[in-house]
Order: sequence, then C-alpha cells, then structure tokens
Amino acid sequence: MADRKKTKSQARKAPAKGKAAVAQSEDIMDNKPLKIVIVGHVDHGKSTLVGRLIHDTGSLPEGKVETIQDMCDRRGMPFEWAFLMDALKSERDQGVTIDTSQIWFSTDHRKYVLIDAPGHKEFLKNMVSGAAHAEAALLVIDAEEGVREQSRRHGYLLHLLGVRQVAVAVNKMDLVKYSKGRFDEIKAEIHDYLNEIGIAPTHIIPVSSREGDMIVNESRHMDWYKGPTVAQALDLFEAPVVPTDLPLRFPVQDVYKFDKKRIIVGRVESGRLRVGDTLLISPTNKTVRVASIESWNSPAPVLAASAGQSIGITLEDQVFIERGQVASNIGNLPVETNVFRARIFWLGREPLTTGKTYKLKLATSHHNVVVQAIERVIDTDDLSSTEADKLERNAVAEVVLRSRGMMVLDEFINNPVMGRFVLVDKYDAVGGGIVSMEGYPDQRQSVTVKSTNIFSVDHRITPAARSANHGHRPGILWLTGLSGSGKSTIAVELERQLFLKGYHVYVIDGDNLRHGLCADLGFSPEDRTENIRRVGEVANLFADAGFIVIAAFISPYRADRQRARAIRSEQFHEIYIKAGLEVCERRDPKGLYKKARKGEIKMFSGISAPYEEPEEPECVIDTTFLPVSENVAELMEYIDQNLGGIDHHHETGKEEKAAQTG
Ligand code: ADX
Repeated sequence: MADRKKTKSQARKAPAKGKAAVAQSEDIMDNKPLKIVIVGHVDHGKSTLVGRLIHDTGSLPEGKVETIQDMCDRRGMPFEWAFLMDALKSERDQGVTIDTSQIWFSTDHRKYVLIDAPGHKEFLKNMVSGAAHAEAALLVIDAEEGVREQSRRHGYLLHLLGVRQVAVAVNKMDLVKYSKGRFDEIKAEIHDYLNEIGIAPTHIIPVSSREGDMIVNESRHMDWYKGPTVAQALDLFEAPVVPTDLPLRFPVQDVYKFDKKRIIVGRVESGRLRVGDTLLISPTNKTVRVASIESWNSPAPVLAASAGQSIGITLEDQVFIERGQVASNIGNLPVETNVFRARIFWLGREPLTTGKTYKLKLATSHHNVVVQAIERVIDTDDLSSTEADKLERNAVAEVVLRSRGMMVLDEFINNPVMGRFVLVDKYDAVGGGIVSMEGYPDQRQSVTVKSTNIFSVDHRITPAARSANHGHRPGILWLTGLSGSGKSTIAVELERQLFLKGYHVYVIDGDNLRHGLCADLGFSPEDRTENIRRVGEVANLFADAGFIVIAAFISPYRADRQRARAIRSEQFHEIYIKAGLEVCERRDPKGLYKKARKGEIKMFSGISAPYEEPEEPECVIDTTFLPVSENVAELMEYIDQNLGGIDHHHETGKEEKAAQTG
C-alpha cells in the first residue's frame, strides 16, 4: 500500500519525469492501461467530469490547478474544471507525446488512457481502423435532462463498436438537490434504453462533477447511494485482454519448401502454439499436429510461440495448406461464413454502393465480396442514422457483405485482429471495417461431418423404377418467404390438388416440424441453420422415395437454402413466396408481428432478424394481390411443365421405364 501511495504522488508531478519513475510505476501497477472513452451529450458535463477525475485521482501535473485558478480569477469567474481537460490536451499537442488525443491518469488500482477524439468522425475512424481501441466507456447523462437523443446516439455508437463494459454517471446531482427519486427515474430510463441495444451497464452512479461528489471521493449528500464512485467503477472494469490470452489464431502467410520440409509461415495473431499441439485448419477443416517450430536465430529448439511472434512450423501430416487459411485449437474455432454484417468507415473517392464488388483483406486472406445491403448510414457529426443505398467518403455505415467461398474470421468483439478488415477497390484501400455476426449464423457446424467410418448402402430399387411406379418424377418444391407470406396456406392447398391428381405428395412445414424433429431448436441464426439442414435432409429422403415434397419454411438464409439445394440440385425448385414486410405484418395471421414489435418475440424474421431474398429462384409467386387459388393455379402450371405433370403422366412413365431397361 505504501508503495502505491508513492506511485500516486509521483503521478501528481509532471508526467514521465525520468525513465526510472516510469519503470517503477509500471512495476507496481498493472502494465497495460485500460483504454476508456467518455461519451455523452455535449452539455451534460463530460469535460468537468474528466477534469475532476484527473484532479481527484492526483494525476495532474503540479501547478496546473493554480494556473487554471489564476486564469479564472483574471476573468472573474469561478473555477472551471472543464479547462483542465483543455489545458491537458494542449500540453500534449505541443509536447513530443505521440498521440494528441489521449489523456493519461491513474487510480491506486491501475493506469487509464482516456481516448478523446476531437470529434466523432476521428473517433470512429480510429476505432474501426484499430488506431485506437476503447475497451470500456463512461456514459455521462445530465440528472436534470435525462436520456436525450444524443445520449441515445452515443449509446448506439458503443454498441456499434462492440464496447461492452459501460458505466454510467448521472451528473449534476447538485442541481436536482441530490434527489434519490430523480436518480431512480433516470436510472430506470437508462436501463431500458441500454437494454434495448444489448448493453448491460456495470454501474449507474449519481455524481456531481462540479462539487466532486462520487467521482473519486464519496459524497455527504447522497447517503442513500451505496454503490461505487466513478473511479471505483472504472477500477471494477475487467482488465484489458491481452492477445496471448485469446484463443489461438495463426493465419497462414505462406508455405515454403526447403529440401523435403514444408514450412508453414505466419504470425501468431492471438493465443499460443506449442510443438505437439493438434490444430484445425479452417476452412478445410483438416486436423494436423505441430511437429516443430522452426527457428532462424535461436540455437536451442523452440517449443512454443505466442501472439505477436512470426514463426514457421512443420507438421506431422501431409495436408494441403495455403495462404489465407487459419490454424486454431480445436476447442475454440473461428467463424466460417460467406456473409456477415460489417461496420465500415468509408474512405473511397467513389461512394460505396449496393451490389458492387470489392476485395476484402482480412488477416492473410483475400476475398471478393459483394455489398449485399447498406443497412444504415451513420452521420459522423451528430451520429444520426439514415437509410441510403450509397456511402460517401468519411461516412460510417452498417452493411452486409457476402462472398462466394467461406471466409474465416472472428467477431471483432471476440478477436480484434481476426475481426478487422480492409476493403480494396482496384489497388486502393477504400474502407476499413469490423465484423459483427449479429443475425447471421456461423456456418461451420453445418459444413462439418462429425462421424467417421461411415459408408452408404445402395438401394435395389432404382429411382427410375420408383418414378415409373408413381407415375411422376420426384421433386422438392422449396417454399421460402417471410412469416405470413402465405407459404403454409399455399403448401397445403397445392398438396390437396396434387393429391387429387394422383401425385404422391407431402408437405413438411416449419410450424409442424418444430413440434417434433426440430423441437430442440429455437430461432437463433445457428438454430435456423440447423433447422434448415434437417429439413433439407428430410426433403431429400422423401424425394428419394419418389415423392413430391413441398417444404414450407421461412429459411431466411441464402446459404442454408443453397446447401439444401446442393443435396439434390437437379430436383430442387426454389419458390419464392413473395409479399412485402408491410403486407405480412398487416395480415399477421398468428399475431406474431405484433408481439415481435413489442419485443416479446426476439429474432423475428423481417423485424429483428434478417430475411435474405432468393437471388435466382426457379419461380416467384407474389401473394400481395392475388387470392390463394390463383397462386396455387400458377404453381400447378409450373409443376405440370417442370415435373412431368399429370398430362405427361404416361409419357414420363414410358421414358423412365425405357431408362430402366435400357
Ligand atoms: S426458419 O426460419 O427456421 O425457417 P420456420 O419456417 O421453421 O423458421 O418456422 C417459422 C414459424 O415459427 C413462423 O411461421 C412462426 O409461426 C414461428 N415463429 C416463432 N418465433 C419466430 C421467430 N422469431 N421468427 C420467425 N418465426 C417464428
């Protein structure tokens, strides 16, 4: 404790006087400073709070307070805490210190860097590019005014950037006579709002920056409050995560061949790697064992490597490995996906536009990605968001990006290096972004076969024989569309009419399967993917048995539908049951939209979860205006034409019989 005091008093002096002092303080305290950002409405007292915090933690250079006092006296005004922050900033600007937008301070517990960007634009740019990365935030809200539009936007900004640790200071409590009632009101309001955007505040603290209540020192005025001060709340934030402690990510940079050895070269981006480890290579999903870590300048054999080190490894196994693949431990794998949500900062001279293709560089991999959607554009001046189909230079947006092949990545909040990318147009870097999987499933589970030593049994009845027997060819009619678009209604009517015409037909429907085969699944992206995987397999079995299967499922993800198609592509018919969200919501046959709007159902397709429209469906049935009978008639015609319809019944049979004997 005595040592800590000493550190504190040193911090009170001019910063970084001599190397020894710095070394000493680093020995005593947690080495890595926690990076925090202070956000809130301009008039809610951010600067005053920062001034107070720096002063009361004893982090101010000597003489600073006096200088400001003099300045205020000369102007005949009361002491202005906010000037402290400005004074510190300008000092940094003139000094040799590298970053002008960082203010250092420390508590007894640890060091902090306050990231203070001159404006939102710079802050966003720094966060997205990785130049500055806030690990926690303090949101300041005025006790008189409560949550204002700007507080909301700041809250959203934190959500956008994946800052998960947030404490809230309800400032200016002196102006509301330190009223517990008022505080409780605002507290409830803040909770509601932050909950909406998925942030659980660690603490909500009543403070008066001007009077110094509950910033570092406790308050005589608020006996009713039993929680921590602001400084204590900051100290209670989790320590910054060091890359070494994250799961292993070793993106392959290159493969060298020396004599007979193949050396896999790259930089360990996070975690650790040891000789003898079993690794999984994504996206090929091959497992390998590390035979050696090659060293160029160490005489002793190297047995382990960790984040930040560039290494070469050899493997015990002969598997194909190439640049862009990622090695990781089996227990904690990166995401595999061909679509994700990104928050990007656009630098290109030409605007980013929907439908355009860019090159995405993430770790050592390159992919061509198409901008599937621009979901919202955020004004970097006032943080308001709007819908748009273009993103101009220096703006920020939430977009959905899609590639053809599987990309290997992590969500930015889980692993900054694997969750950050650059977009390139021709040869220019035109944007930077961070990855969010919100609303999209990790597709790894659905592409991995878990069991080994399995074989296939051949039937002794040929597909042709079955067709001949049934009098028609099998097929999968895959009805996709929003809830309320009419899938089930059309499916059962179509089934009835086909049945009457002698078809062997069966409907499998979302609501039905979820009572049995898929009773263990909910509506998370992963569960939906698994739902559709099972449906695809079941549909395939029915088709194999010679049936016409009508599958009616929202099946919101293109990738899932593609996988279902791939199982039996020649007999798969994707039918888009099309109706706009407004129409479906107006129909709301099960009252689910209403519940979803009230937040009673989470992840509802179209409202709080994505629906990806088919790109090239075999058939589109627009149900907006026409009655069910006409929609079904249209489909009957489609089936007649494409599945060897009833009119061609005998002919088809003949054809198939010929095939069978021929
Ligand atoms: S899918 O997305 O996995 O294809 P599926 O078609 O099986 O969905 O089931 C959709 C049905 O479940 C809807 O028609 C609706 O009745 C019900 N449902 C319940 N919760 C949700 C939700 N969050 N999103 C969509 N549908 C839901």
